[in-house]
Amino acid sequence: MTAAFDLILRHCRVATASDVFEADIGIRDGRIASIGLALPPGHREIDVAGRVVTPGGVDAHCHLDQPMAPPVQMADNFETGTRSAACGGTTTVMPFAAQQRGSGLRAAVQDYHARSEGQAYVDYAFHLIVNDPTEAVLETELPALIREGYTSFKVYMTYEDQKLDDGQILDVLDISRRHGAMTMLHAENSDCIEWLTRRLEARGRTAPRYHAHARPMLVEREATHRAIALAELVDVPILIVHVSGREAVEQIRWARGQGLSIYAETCPQYLFLTAESLGMDECYEGAKCVCSPPPRDKANQEVIWNGLNDGLFNVFSSDHAPFRYDGMEGKHPEGEQVAFRHIPNGIPGIETRMPLLYSEGVLGGRISLEKFVELTATGPAKAYGLHPKKGSISIGADADLVIWDERELTLSNAMLHHAVDYTPYEGMKLKAWPGMTLSRGEVVWDGKAFTAPKGRGRFLRCGRPSLRPMRHLAEAA
Ligand code: URP
Ligand code: ZN
Ligand code: ZN
Repeated sequence: MTAAFDLILRHCRVATASDVFEADIGIRDGRIASIGLALPPGHREIDVAGRVVTPGGVDAHCHLDQPMAPPVQMADNFETGTRSAACGGTTTVMPFAAQQRGSGLRAAVQDYHARSEGQAYVDYAFHLIVNDPTEAVLETELPALIREGYTSFKVYMTYEDQKLDDGQILDVLDISRRHGAMTMLHAENSDCIEWLTRRLEARGRTAPRYHAHARPMLVEREATHRAIALAELVDVPILIVHVSGREAVEQIRWARGQGLSIYAETCPQYLFLTAESLGMDECYEGAKCVCSPPPRDKANQEVIWNGLNDGLFNVFSSDHAPFRYDGMEGKHPEGEQVAFRHIPNGIPGIETRMPLLYSEGVLGGRISLEKFVELTATGPAKAYGLHPKKGSISIGADADLVIWDERELTLSNAMLHHAVDYTPYEGMKLKAWPGMTLSRGEVVWDGKAFTAPKGRGRFLRCGRPSLRPMRHLAEAA
C-alpha cells in the first residue's frame, strides 16, 4: 500500500492565528494535505509528542546583502541570512531591493535577483525601496513591477541619501492606490534629526548614546502624524514600520479611530532594548544597538506590548540589519570609533525574532499563542499578499512549520547562524527555541544542525495585500 502522505507530524498542538487544537498534519508534495486526528500512515512520520506547532515565520522586514556605500557592507547575504532565519523558525523572508538614486527600480530588482539566485535556504520575496521617484519610475517601472509580484515598497522620511519629500511620498502613495500595492513608511523627521545632531556635535556629544538624543520620540511622532495625513489625502492604506513607542502608537490609534487603514509593524528591539543599551557613558559598545528609531524606555516597552496584544500591530518583524561590530565594514566604518552620525544604523535579529516573542510573549503570559502566530506569520503574509500560501496552517498551504521546544536556555551569539559577530541580546534567558523547522515539508533545522541544501529557497511573487480594511473595525466598534 502506498502511503497517503510524504510526511506526517503526529500529535501536534497546532496553533493558528484563530485557534489552538490537537491534530496530526499530513504533508504531500511540500503542502499541507490534511489536518485531523489519527490520519492514515505517511511515508515518514515524526512524533511531535504534544509540542506546539506554528506556521513558519514570515519576517517581512529584514535587510540582506543590500548594497551600501563602501567600506560599509552587510555581513549577511541570502545564504547566511536565510540559514539564520530558518534556525530561528522563519521560513519566508522579505528583504529590500533598493533603488539607487540616478538609477531605475528595474535595475535594482535585477541586481537583487543576481544576489539571491541559488543562495537562499528558505523562500523569499522582495519589497522595493523607492529612493528616486522619477516619472519613469512612477508611471512605467513601478506599475509593471507591481503586476509582476513586487507589491510593496518602502519610502524613507529620513536619511539624507534616501528620504523623499512630502510631494514625492504623495506621488508614491498615488501609485500604490491606483495599482493596489502597499507603501511602508519609515517615519522620522529628517530636518529635526539633522538640527539636533549638529547641536550635539557642537557640544562634543558624539558617543553612541547620543544617537537616541538626536532621534527623540517627538521626531517619530511628527513624521507618523504626517505619514497618516498623506495617506488620508490620497485615501490609501499604509503600513508604518518599526514603531518604537507611545507617541507614535497614539497617532496610529487616533487614525484608526477616524476609520483610516493605517497598519503598523514593531520589532524586538522596542520590547527588549532601551536607550540605555546604547551605553550609559561614552562607551562605544553601545554602537551594537544603534538603530533607527532608537530603543526607548521601559514605559514605552509596555506600550508596545499592549499594542501587540490589542491589535494595534499587524506585523512583528526583525528589521535585521546585519553589520559586524568589529571592522571597517560594520560599526567601525573608518577602522575606529566614529561619531554616532557615522555608525551604520541597524541591528541583527533574524534568528532571535520568533524565540524572543515566544519566550517572553507567549510563555511570559503577555500574548496568546494565536496572537503570536498572527504577528509573526499570518499578519505579515496578509499584509504583503503571500497568504494563505504562507503564514497559515491550512489545507493547500505550503508546509512551512515550526515545532517548538519549551526549555530554558541562555542566548549567546555562538549559537546563532548569522555572519554578524554579536547579538544585542547576549546572555538573555529564554524559555523556548525551535526544535524543528520545516520549509515546504523538508526539515531544514532539526534543533541541532542545519540540514538544507543551499539554493532550495524559491522566489515568491506577491499578490495584493489582504489585511482587513480598518474601516470595518471602526464601523464594528
Ligand atoms: O536602523 C535601522 N532600522 N536600520 C535599517 C534600515 C531601516 O531603516 O529599516
Ligand atoms: Zn526604516
Ligand atoms: Zn529596516
